[in-house]
Parts: sequence; structure tokens; C-alpha cells
Amino acid sequence: SRTVGRNGDGAAEVAGMDVRDLAAEFGTPAYVLDEADFRARCRAWRAAFGPDADVFYAGKAFLSRAVVKWLYEEGLNLDVCSGTELAVALDAGMPAARIALHGNNKTTAEIERAVTAGVGRIVLDSFQEIVRVADVARRHGVRQKVQIRVTVGVEAHTHEFIATAHEDQKFGLALADGQAAEAVRRVLMLEDLELIGIHSHIGSQIFDTAGFEVAARRVVSLLAAIRDEHGVELPEIDLGGGLGIAYTPEDDPRDPHEIAKALGEIVARECEAARLTPPRLSVEPGRAIVGPTTFTLYEVGTVKPLEGLRTYVSVDGGMSDNIRTALYDAEYSVALVSRTSDAAPMLSRVVGKHCESGDIVVRDAFLPADLAPGDLIAVPATGAYCRSMASNYNHALRPPVVAVADGQAKVIVRRETEEDLLRLDVG
Ligand code: LLP
Repeated sequence: SRTVGRNGDGAAEVAGMDVRDLAAEFGTPAYVLDEADFRARCRAWRAAFGPDADVFYAGKAFLSRAVVKWLYEEGLNLDVCSGTELAVALDAGMPAARIALHGNNKTTAEIERAVTAGVGRIVLDSFQEIVRVADVARRHGVRQKVQIRVTVGVEAHTHEFIATAHEDQKFGLALADGQAAEAVRRVLMLEDLELIGIHSHIGSQIFDTAGFEVAARRVVSLLAAIRDEHGVELPEIDLGGGLGIAYTPEDDPRDPHEIAKALGEIVARECEAARLTPPRLSVEPGRAIVGPTTFTLYEVGTVKPLEGLRTYVSVDGGMSDNIRTALYDAEYSVALVSRTSDAAPMLSRVVGKHCESGDIVVRDAFLPADLAPGDLIAVPATGAYCRSMASNYNHALRPPVVAVADGQAKVIVRRETEEDLLRLDVG
């Protein structure tokens, strides 16, 4: 987060608030989100892509009513991938025209909800879904705007579970074997669907712009092929999300201006070569907007030194509030934030309180050797895919999201309570 510093006592401050006060008021673990940083990142993306492009924030990274309001105010659109994400977006006042619906297995109820709300686009993911969406649109007398999601066949250099543009997987229609072209044929024949463009998402936590550039080239060549076959020039392309962020100091991410410039140039050049009117471009960053805005504040509990190995530092959360380390071997950093220390660095592993040994938050980190129960530590860059993937394992109560701005803190998602969980247990 951009506004973290240390005060005279050596405690970390964010947006003018001492982390010890935040812990005292809101408890730990807590996700602390820097609203000014979130808004600044929204503005950076808008500025990088300019007025001739749209930025759809990917709600799966983290979604709440407050976030929707900030997005609306900063001029972003929103990508949702479930009926419930759609409900949050609409409830918080995002105009339906600025919402896109995604998903490889949207239910008829979800499609119905999106069509009747009037979402700006539904991204079609399969042949069966073409028919499903067309049926719903017909029943409601709507001509639904759609894009077709294609898999362009690039290997994104990221974890297997979050790479999505190779062909052997559940998402999208492949360019290589003609499925994408066939989907275009079918959609163009249906009066209830208005095909506005082609969509590609190659994966997530990607640092290299090369994969996006290949995707852009292949999507533009599909537009040219569509023009040649059908005599129509589709007005939009969406190149998805996926820009990586820095989790550790070794990570060297691209900024939105670099990606906007790379994509803008490729699309312009390829369109000129194919004599196409350049389509309106959109992108769907999630992690790059919300990831760096948030840190998780934990209280240290048991500290267990193992001679010659490392010290296990247990915190009051774990894989229930951050599954990414266990699931993707994700790397994080950590810092002592309630005070400074001159003690020697000790090799540490930050672990949670759950009943399994894979419950690791930070695999390898150095923390001061005098670390003690009651100290507060913070794990940065937990804004994306942490609260949104949190679980109730061991009946853990999911932590709150506390938004800080200008010396003020407010809870935007409250901590779960025992009553919340017991209410679901109706046996
Ligand atoms: N658009 C589409 C169609 C997507 O599937 C995704 C992410 C995004 C945009 C946003 O990608 P981003 O800019 O956030 O990388 N849970 C994993 C990440 C899964 C990403 C799924 N799709 C993680 O924690 O790393």
C-alpha cells in the first residue's frame, strides 16, 4: 500500500492510522484496505487506457458495496462471474450497462437475472451457452449484447491453475480448431443476440507483456476473418485481466501504462495491416487494482524455534483468510508492525491456527529474533483473492475488511460472528 509509514513509536501507520489502534478497534486478523490507493489505481488504469477504452474491474478479486461505489465514481466498469456478484453490483448502484457477466457454467437463473437487469454484455463461453442465452433473451424480448470468449493458445508463464489460454481446459472456444469461428457463425445467425466482440483472458499474475501481445494479434486476426467471411466488423475486443503485482521485493510487475501502450500499439498495427477499423478495447484487471491496496494484520501467538531449521510463527488466522500460499505456492512477505526491533533476523515460517501442516501464510521470511506473542505482523498485497477466497475451515470466522482513508477507518465487510455460522446450521 502506498501510504504505509512508521510513526515516532516505531509502529506502522496507514493513511494516518496506527496499526495498533486498528487492531485494538477492529481485532485481528483483519484486512486493512487503503481506499486512496484503490482509487489511485483505478485512475491510473483509466488514464493509461484513455477515453477510447473501458476498464472492467474483475470483481472476483474482491467485491463489496463500497468497492462498487468507488469503481463507479472512478469511471470503471465491472466484471462479475456469478449471480451473487451481480446482485452486489446492482445493489450498490452500478448501472447494469457497465456490468459484464462471465462464467463457464452460468445457470439459466443467472443468465435470466443478467438479461432482465440489462447488463452491457454477457461473455459466451460454450456452444450450449449460446443457445441458453439466446433463449432467455428471446423470452424477455431483449436483444442481448454478447462477446465470445476464445482461447488463443498461448502458454502464460504462471501457475497451472491460473493459466487460461492453452486449449486443454474448461474455458472458452479455441481459435486453433475452428470452434471460435463456428461460435461466431452460430451467434450471428441468432436475432436475439448482438455480437459486439471477441474476448480473451490468458491467465493471471503475469509479468511479461508478450502473452498479451500474441493474444491481441490472434484476436485481431479473428476479427479480420469474421469480416472476410460475414462482411461485419465487430466493434469491440476485450483482452481480459492478468497483470501481475509485486508480492515480494523480487517481483517486477509492469504498470498499466506499459500494458496499455503495448496492447494499443499491437492492436493499431494489426488493424491497419488487416484494414480493419480499430475496435474499442477493454481490459479486466482485478489483482492489479485491489491486490496491493490491502495488508492482513495478524497477532502473533505461539513462537516455536526449531534448532537449525527455522522458527514457526503462528498467527490468529491462516489458510482460511489466505489460501493462496497453500493452493498456488504463492509467495508473500511479512513485517513486524507494532514496533521496531534491533534483534537479529531469524528465518521464520508464518503459519496459521488450522489443523494441517499445509496451513502456511508465508513460507520463508525473516522476522526479528525477539518476536513475541502479542506482536502484530502484517502481510502485504492481500487485497486480491484472499477475502474473496476465504473459508470457514475449522469454523474460522472470516475477518473484516477495514477501509482506511485520511485518518479514518471504517468497516466495509464486517467480521463474521459465531451467530452467523450457527444460523446456517439448521440441523
Ligand atoms: N477476466 C477474467 C475472464 C478472469 O477469469 C479473471 C481472473 C480476470 C479477468 C482477472 O484477472 P486478474 O487481473 O485478477 O489476474 N484465484 C487466483 C486467480 C484466479 C483468476 C481467475 N480469473 C489467485 O489467487 O491467484
